[in-house]
Amino acid sequence: MTGDRDEGRHTDRTDTHVKRTQAGTLTTEQVGRQTKVQGWVHRRRDHGGVIFLDVRDRSGVVQAVVHPETTPDAAAALQPARLEWVVEVEGEVVRRDPDKVNPKMATGEIEVRVETGRVLGRSEPMPFGVEGAQDASEETRLKYRFLDLRRAGLQRNLRMRSDFTIESLAYFREQGFVNIETPMLTRSTPEGARDYLVPSRLNHGSFYALPQSPQLFKQILMVSGLERYVQFARCFRDEDLRADRQPEFTQIDVEMSFVDEEDVFALVEGLFSRVFPLAGIEPPVSYPRLSYDDAMRRYGSDRPDLRVDLEITDVTDCLRDTEFRAFQAAIAAGGVVRGVHVPGASSSSRRQVDEYADIARRHGAAGVLWVKRENGVPSFLVKSALSQGQVETLADRLGVEEGGMALLVAAPEPTAAAALGSLREEVGRRFGHMRENAHEFLWVHDFPLVTWNGDEGRWNATHHPFTSPHMSDLDRLESDPGSVRSRAYDVVLNGNEIGGGSIRIHDRDVQKRVLALLGIDAEEAERRFGFLFEALSYGAPPHGGIALGVDRIVMLMAGADSLRDVIAFPKTASAVCLMTEAPSTVDQEQLLDLGLRIRPQGGR
Ligand code: AMO
Repeated sequence: MTGDRDEGRHTDRTDTHVKRTQAGTLTTEQVGRQTKVQGWVHRRRDHGGVIFLDVRDRSGVVQAVVHPETTPDAAAALQPARLEWVVEVEGEVVRRDPDKVNPKMATGEIEVRVETGRVLGRSEPMPFGVEGAQDASEETRLKYRFLDLRRAGLQRNLRMRSDFTIESLAYFREQGFVNIETPMLTRSTPEGARDYLVPSRLNHGSFYALPQSPQLFKQILMVSGLERYVQFARCFRDEDLRADRQPEFTQIDVEMSFVDEEDVFALVEGLFSRVFPLAGIEPPVSYPRLSYDDAMRRYGSDRPDLRVDLEITDVTDCLRDTEFRAFQAAIAAGGVVRGVHVPGASSSSRRQVDEYADIARRHGAAGVLWVKRENGVPSFLVKSALSQGQVETLADRLGVEEGGMALLVAAPEPTAAAALGSLREEVGRRFGHMRENAHEFLWVHDFPLVTWNGDEGRWNATHHPFTSPHMSDLDRLESDPGSVRSRAYDVVLNGNEIGGGSIRIHDRDVQKRVLALLGIDAEEAERRFGFLFEALSYGAPPHGGIALGVDRIVMLMAGADSLRDVIAFPKTASAVCLMTEAPSTVDQEQLLDLGLRIRPQGGR
């Protein structure tokens, strides 16, 4: 990726001052030259008095050999050095004896014959070895993050992240974008999570919110006429954490004026074509576009993993006349029967089928049924429930091949979709229908504007409240909100939502109607978003944008399993930084300054 350059020249013996060379860059070309290496003791061995030190710096590792007979001073100086001490060694680059060549090491053909050496920094005994760090508990590694970060893998990830950032900004600059920083101490922007609050010392009882995203600022920048805004924005969300969620994370936040969905899609596709090759990944020039409804119907998910090329089929209509209770009950209640055919799965054992049922139950379905074809004859799980003709029709509709098994779920539509979405991916993968090394990008668009929140008995914005409905659906905003499509979109890679955005509302009155639908009355709306209404009243251009999840993208580029592997100082699932022990208590005095008092736990 980046061309690491030598810091110093490889010098001749006659030179008086030898500059530092990066350990990992030494090759047989430098044999006979003097070199100086500074770094950490990666490994250490004593062989009959001879000291072997593998010295590591950011570029790699080189073996340094100290002979006490010929260089007693260097030996005395380096003798105490232990794992992870910082040392400097200077000497001649020599070719290793043929039987000592280490083909596993980039510098395995040479070594440095040390003439002078010294210790630059001592280390306590290590809590874990840098090389075997993966074996230490995650907790220990996060506490000693500075040591964990010495691992080559993590350094590679951070370097990739850095290259990604720099390359992305270059792209946006070429496209005429302005990089603008928006405030961290701000008002709450609703993105669906809780805010992190910062008490104000000068205004007791008032709080700033750390931004969940710069959403409203970027829209206001469009009103200000910037037209093309970009920012690597830190966002803060107090929500339940998972492997793909951190309480603070980074977005490439983008907003553009006078655009529609396709303009945003093309911009992002252009960006990805530029940055994914940094990780050896070549995305297609343009990605499939799938409406939310189609994604749910065909893949049972709004972020399907298209590396699994199986699709869900709706078979409700061909089962309307059957008497089988499970089908009848679901259909009578307005539900559906859908299935996914998994080639090769007819050999599934009873226990495996039980596991499939468990997957379906996790999504609220009663279980799974199946149709399979063996020796040319299709069969259905519940013998005698359907006529052989009905089983044939069902198998044909589902495309059940010889040796294949279609898994069926009869349930309300959202339940059936979600259950089959999981089965498609999990069972599909087990039977080899997952192209593990592929990179499948896609756009999902036209999400519903609002989603019913049954627990709280109200509508929530599916994306956020500033997302534009499709104008053709606007007349149903109050009468049938659930049917209104929005102009929101997500970009998905291998089943991960790596970005989301929308075309915005730029009409103040439509904005007020949407907020009212979300249960935010006029007074509250004015209090929270008065500045936005004002801005929208002074010549607001049509605009839209997107935010890309930097941490998630770099995680996928690096082939890492967790966001923690691409964030220098990440937090745990309980939002704690184990290294600094944040969050922490504060002095009574600080609290007094802020006009705050801590309530005893559980007290009032
Ligand atoms: P959204 O909430 O969809 O949109 O966020 C955009 C992208 O940010 C990433 N992301 C996260 N990454 C790590 N940890 C988290 N907790 C986390 N939450 C989100 C995801 C997601 O796709 N203001 C809108 C954007 C817009 O409309 O332009 C927004 O923030 O990859």
